[in-house]
Amino acid sequence: MNLPQLKIGDLIARRPIVQGGMGVGISLSGLASAVANEGGVGVIATPMIGIEEPDITTDPVGANRRALVKQIRRCRELSQGVIGVNIMCALTNFADLVKTSVKEKADIIFVGAGLPLDLPAHLPTVEEMGGKMKTKIAPIVSSGRAATLICRKWLKKYNMLPDAFVVEGPKAGGHLGFKAEQLDDPDFCLEKILPETIEAVKAFEEAKGCPIPVIAAGGVYSGQDICKFLDMGAAGVQMGTRFVATHECDADPRFKQAFINAGPSDMHVIKSPVGLPGRAVNNDFLRAVENGQKHPAKCPFHCLSTCKQDLSPYCIARALINAKRGILKHGFAFAGSNAYLVEKIISVKELMNSLVEEAQECKAGAKQYFEERKETAKRYIEDVKGQMNEKLGDVKGQLEDVKGQVAGKLEGVKEQMVEKLQEKMAERFKTASESE
Ligand SMILES: Cc1cc2nc3c(=O)[nH]c(=O)nc-3n(C[C@H](O)[C@H](O)[C@H](O)COP(=O)(O)O)c2cc1C
Ligand code: SF4
Repeated sequence: MNLPQLKIGDLIARRPIVQGGMGVGISLSGLASAVANEGGVGVIATPMIGIEEPDITTDPVGANRRALVKQIRRCRELSQGVIGVNIMCALTNFADLVKTSVKEKADIIFVGAGLPLDLPAHLPTVEEMGGKMKTKIAPIVSSGRAATLICRKWLKKYNMLPDAFVVEGPKAGGHLGFKAEQLDDPDFCLEKILPETIEAVKAFEEAKGCPIPVIAAGGVYSGQDICKFLDMGAAGVQMGTRFVATHECDADPRFKQAFINAGPSDMHVIKSPVGLPGRAVNNDFLRAVENGQKHPAKCPFHCLSTCKQDLSPYCIARALINAKRGILKHGFAFAGSNAYLVEKIISVKELMNSLVEEAQECKAGAKQYFEERKETAKRYIEDVKGQMNEKLGDVKGQLEDVKGQVAGKLEGVKEQMVEKLQEKMAERFKTASESE
């Protein structure tokens, strides 16, 4: 049984799996092109994408823009598949990255870490694009309410609607769109917020003139998980953690090894300087921060609009750059809540194939279960029919008996009547011949 394709307007991915954008160098063109080549949506993450550019501290906006252009173009050289870009709302160069991605004809932009209420204002004009914009826009939300807010604002102010949504639950890795106390509250789990978001966006599909697909993210780990969320109405899933543990992931092998080494108790929620909770693999760096130790740093890149540099015990951009380079002594690895399940590093091809196989088996298993139930019901109906036919046969036999008895009785009565008639006629005949 085949999994459905992921359709976002006229954009089609052969497999309904989006590789979540993973910032500060974890998902660049290496990982994104490998995923796109396997039929999924490969996503380049933009936070601090320009770290290898020589002028990243003197001209961070220019360096990040140049690096993004290089990464998109490299992806296009390596793959014909669907390529997306992930941009955080909180980035100071948000508008510039949106414009650059659209101009470079990225297939889709995923926008997270905040509500992109004014994103349409940053899109290039039709004239600038020399025609229709090809890039689809998919905000990442954590509730149906957030999806409604974005749709209402875009429709009213820009006469535009998003092309898709990602709804990300509290089990995801990286920054989380929830309050710390909501993370374990069943009212905010993905199984709850997915149907709410699907329902919320349905109200805008008529205005859009086509379906607005909703993609489920956060804690999706196996093919069975994929099957479950597709059955719940998701058009696809977005996965981060599983793609870290691949050869093609753009992080240093030591970053990936942190996932393999982690146990369940190492999965840790931090208070990020960005102002949101974040999920990571606990380590000495994070323990030191929790114990009040500071890692003072000047603000080298001015990358986040929500960063409180003066109050923050460390520069998260610097810490994540160190982690991407494998220097976990001076940084930490963001990770989804299931990262401790990772046992080995495999190729993107192996991962995609095993996920799809598992999901197909799960779907086929569900189908087989219903087929078996149908067969049992059919057999039961046949049994009942047989028993009823048997009973009917008995009743028919009894009826035949009664019929035979009635016929016998009738025959007796008939004979008696004939006898009586003959007697009477004989008597009359005798009387008549005597009177003559
Ligand atoms: C190392 C790492 C970095 C991430 N960075 C970003 C990011 O820059 N922007 C973003 O929107 N999401 C980010 N995420 C979230 C992922 O895109 C994805 O939605 C999430 O990891 C899904 O949950 P999962 O890891 O349980 O599959 C990150 C996740 C990880 C594990
Ligand atoms: S201090 Fe904050 S804004 Fe400055 S570079 Fe670090 S993370 Fe970015």
